[in-house]
Amino acid sequence: MPKSEVKTSLLDNMIGVGDSVLLEPLTEDTFLENLKNRFDHSEIYTYIGSVVISVNPYRHLPIYTPEKVEEYRNRNFYELSPHIYALADEAYRSLRDQDKDQCILITGESGAGKTEASKLVMSYVAAVCGKGAEVNQVKEQLLQSNPVLEAFGNAKTMRNDNSSRFGKYMDIEFDFKGDPLGGVISNYLLEKSRVVKQPRGERNFHIFYQLLSGGSEDLLKQLKLEREFNQYNYLGLDSAKVNGVDDAANFRTVKNAMQIVGFMDDEVELVLEVVAAVLKLGNIEFKPESRVNGLDESRIQDKNELKEICELLGQDQAVLERAFSFRTVEAKQEKVSTTLNVAQAYYARDALAKNLYNRLFTWLVNRINESIKAQSKVRKKVMGVLDIYGFEIFENNSFEQFIINYCNEKLQQIFIELTLKEEQEEYIKEGIEWTHIEYFNNAIICELIENNTNGILAMLDEECLRPGTVTDETFLEKLNQVCAVHERFESRMSKSSRFLNDTTLPHNCFRIQHYAGKVMYHVEGFVDKNNDLLYRDLSQAMWKTNHVLVKSLFPEGNPAKMSLKRPPTAGSQFKASVATLMKNLQTKNPNYIRCIKPNDQKAPHIFAEALVRHQVRYLGLMENVRVRRAGYAFKQPYESCLERYKMLCSQTWPHWRQGSRDGVKVLLTELQIPPEEFSYGRSKIFIRNPRTLFELEDLRKRRLEDLATLIQKIYRGWKCRTNFLLMKKSQIIISAWTKRHFQRKKYLQLKSVTLIIQSYIRGWKARKLLRELKHQKRCEESATTIAAYWRGFQARMEVRRLKEAAMHKHAIAVIWAYWLGYEVRREYRKFFRANAGKKIYEFTIQRIMQKYFLEMKKKLPSMSPTEKTWPPRPYFFLDDTHTELKRIFHLWRCKKYRDQFTEQKKAIFEEKLEASELFKDKKALYTNSVQQPFQGDYLEISKNPKYQKLNGAVEEKIVLADVVNKINRANGKVAPRIFLLTQSNFILADQKSGQIKSTIPVMDITSVSVSKQTDGLFAVHLKEGSTAAAKGDFLFTSDRLIEIITKLYRTIFFKTNQKINVEINNEFLVQFNQDKVCVKFIQGAQKNGNLPTCKRKNNRLLEVTVP
Ligand SMILES: Nc1ncnc2c1ncn2[C@@H]1O[C@H](COP(=O)(O)OP(=O)(O)OP(=O)(O)O)[C@@H](O)[C@H]1O
Ligand SMILES: [Mg+2]
Repeated sequence: MPKSEVKTSLLDNMIGVGDSVLLEPLTEDTFLENLKNRFDHSEIYTYIGSVVISVNPYRHLPIYTPEKVEEYRNRNFYELSPHIYALADEAYRSLRDQDKDQCILITGESGAGKTEASKLVMSYVAAVCGKGAEVNQVKEQLLQSNPVLEAFGNAKTMRNDNSSRFGKYMDIEFDFKGDPLGGVISNYLLEKSRVVKQPRGERNFHIFYQLLSGGSEDLLKQLKLEREFNQYNYLGLDSAKVNGVDDAANFRTVKNAMQIVGFMDDEVELVLEVVAAVLKLGNIEFKPESRVNGLDESRIQDKNELKEICELLGQDQAVLERAFSFRTVEAKQEKVSTTLNVAQAYYARDALAKNLYNRLFTWLVNRINESIKAQSKVRKKVMGVLDIYGFEIFENNSFEQFIINYCNEKLQQIFIELTLKEEQEEYIKEGIEWTHIEYFNNAIICELIENNTNGILAMLDEECLRPGTVTDETFLEKLNQVCAVHERFESRMSKSSRFLNDTTLPHNCFRIQHYAGKVMYHVEGFVDKNNDLLYRDLSQAMWKTNHVLVKSLFPEGNPAKMSLKRPPTAGSQFKASVATLMKNLQTKNPNYIRCIKPNDQKAPHIFAEALVRHQVRYLGLMENVRVRRAGYAFKQPYESCLERYKMLCSQTWPHWRQGSRDGVKVLLTELQIPPEEFSYGRSKIFIRNPRTLFELEDLRKRRLEDLATLIQKIYRGWKCRTNFLLMKKSQIIISAWTKRHFQRKKYLQLKSVTLIIQSYIRGWKARKLLRELKHQKRCEESATTIAAYWRGFQARMEVRRLKEAAMHKHAIAVIWAYWLGYEVRREYRKFFRANAGKKIYEFTIQRIMQKYFLEMKKKLPSMSPTEKTWPPRPYFFLDDTHTELKRIFHLWRCKKYRDQFTEQKKAIFEEKLEASELFKDKKALYTNSVQQPFQGDYLEISKNPKYQKLNGAVEEKIVLADVVNKINRANGKVAPRIFLLTQSNFILADQKSGQIKSTIPVMDITSVSVSKQTDGLFAVHLKEGSTAAAKGDFLFTSDRLIEIITKLYRTIFFKTNQKINVEINNEFLVQFNQDKVCVKFIQGAQKNGNLPTCKRKNNRLLEVTVP
């Protein structure tokens, strides 16, 4: 079942009465009994209407778990048993849903659990409001501001081990969705006197002990501190350790919290330096030193501590030392310096320590505010949580207690005013008759303290500002005069002689009857504390430090900003801030948590009745209950009432269609509840007697059981029926599916069978058609074939017939011819001689031949020897003749062609023919030489005067003259030479001079060797033993190799009638001197035209690279 449907109530499983308004009978005793009963059963919270009373259990209870948070989340206030979470939830929801700013006012005396309650409220709100990374960070920062402020602002007192020594009001800001945006903390009057002196059994502020216990060795060394508490005058020794408190662990928590809140590491360092400096200030001691003028002067006993403080704060030691020894008073532009005596020096020291610590605390609050400040500028809803120091009565009450108690008076007043006003207004608004209830209004006490003309604070201020000697005694005197007649003011010396003999009231005291009891204040220190003076020398000295934080804490020390105006007194400052706070609270919807302290031993399970009774009295709780009950004990909106009890009446159960007010009327009438027991308001029903409510509750409980049975019955019936219907429906669905399945299967089967049959039939039909078509086609084709055959046959028959006819015709013609011949021959035989037939035949042949030749004459082809055509032969029997005639004709025309040549040309052709025989198809160079005419004499030696001498030496006819390259036998290098061939010699001469180098008879040449390539290299081999052959064979190159060798060959032939050998090979031997050298041709890159490159490799090899 969803959680929202669980209907429980504060009336369920109740221990005692959850809401005291329902107490019956209502007396102080029953009220206390109820509180005790509940306290004993660990029920520490009890309501008075919407006010939560919280009794400090002094032990951990398992009622703050996340499950509990969930339980109370979004539930109505009275729905569950009383809890602080219910109040927090109510406040948060009305802030979120009804847009009402809220304030949670937590009051009670010191140790009653206010601070704890405020933390519980904050943690609950944090748990139930929005989530998300950003929101969570805001929450974390808001929550973590608590440990920081507690470390610096809380201390162990006689009443509370973690007593708040400052007032705190925190505004938590939310956006329209109820997500926290940030917060603002206001602090009120830190009890700074504690820094320098603590009452017996109490401690200084936690941070000092935490730093000394939890700081690392390094940190303490850096801060120049010792770990032992007893090293420091400012630390009260008799209760330095508190049971169950781990200062070291708390120090880590505080440092961690500072980090989360957003303090930088260097800021933490600065703060701790100030704390250390304050602690060390207490160790500075002064000794008196008499001076000549009889005035006492003070001297610092041990300057070591001062030196260390100055090092910590970056201070000039001399400056601080002077500030502790002199006091400068400025009046009308005159500066007067007076020395301080020992007492004054101590006063100055303590004032500095207190001020430094107090300002540090204010700085911390501001710094936290800076971190937790809401970033967005959207309209905010605010929930204020006020946790102010509780009402205090000590043995020795001073200015601080006076201020604290004044603040509590103010809070009590706002409580009285708001609760009563609200209650009253509600009755009037609801149209219910209302009779005023008497209660104690503490406005009169507030008046006594804060009245601007004759209030105690005003008197104190007046005294402080008055010129002349002002002491605490003069202040008391003034009070005695002004307040003597006030009913709540008591003093031994007052004009009214009421207390003249009251020995419980010392002369230097006055007593105020506070709402929470009488408190006796010692006037000592009132003036001083109110003045809150710090010698200007000290603030100036502090401003001069190099410590950024300390410098910023004393802005008035800046000589440039010095003002002669007195700062406002502590009392007036506090009064003003309390007034602002009250104004602020009045604009918000108040929610009250009234904390009660069950015993003075701070122990669990002890309920000191007298102590609680006292608190119940001064907190005005009984009045509170009575006011709530004056008219009616219980009120509830009609809707909720009808919702809760409608099952008690058959008309309203289960549904009431009309207005809920009418519904409640019908319900109460049917239940026969006496009319005087309730009243109908405009929107709420008011029940006068709690008993009536309990009766209703009893009836409801019984009815609920019946209803439960009924519901169970109906539910079971419904469940069975639904189950049955479901099964029925399922069965139908299943059968439908099954039927469908089978039908489908059958259908598919039928379909496939049909398809098969269909395909068979179609196949059969198609085949039949095909057969018919094929037959038809065959018929057509065979008709054509037959026709074709028939036509062919016809044609052949016709051809045969025609042939036969022709043959017949021919035969007839032949026969006719033969017959005719025979007839003719028979006819003409008588005219011819015997053998005439032969003669005729010969004649006929002659005639034919004659005709043949005559026709051939006309058809003869051209005279070119290259012409290939020849007319066709006319008669078969002339075949041989015709071929012979062709041959003869060709020979004849060749002859004719040759006959045209001169002798010289003939010789040239002969030479060409010779060259062809020698080189054709043997040497590649040959083809190039075919077109070149063989000129023989290229040098025209006879005409060239250069060669006159050479010409003279040659006697015979020159066959060939040309320049060739002679290859050196030894290294293969070339040299140009004139090559001269005559009919019997060949001569080599210098190309330039024409000087004959050698003359070789052609008969001495045995053979010539050339390669198969296109190169012009040739070797001339000489007869062994001849004179020319002394040096060996010649190697030449020439482009006209073909001509040279042909001419050489022919010259030798003409001379000797012998053919020399022309060897054509790529490798041949030559004789150089005595060596036989192999000339080897290899293919290579072309270097210098067609010229081969020769390289003599060794004795046996000459390599010729040819292209
Ligand atoms: N709800 C609670 N559950 C358990 N312990 C509690 C509870 N409320 C208070 N206490 C205990 O009581 C001690 C005192 O409570 P707390 O500090 O809240 O008192 P206070 O009213 O703020 O006093 P003061 O006015 O001196 O600051 C706490 O330290 C804690 O040990
Ligand atoms: Mg507190």
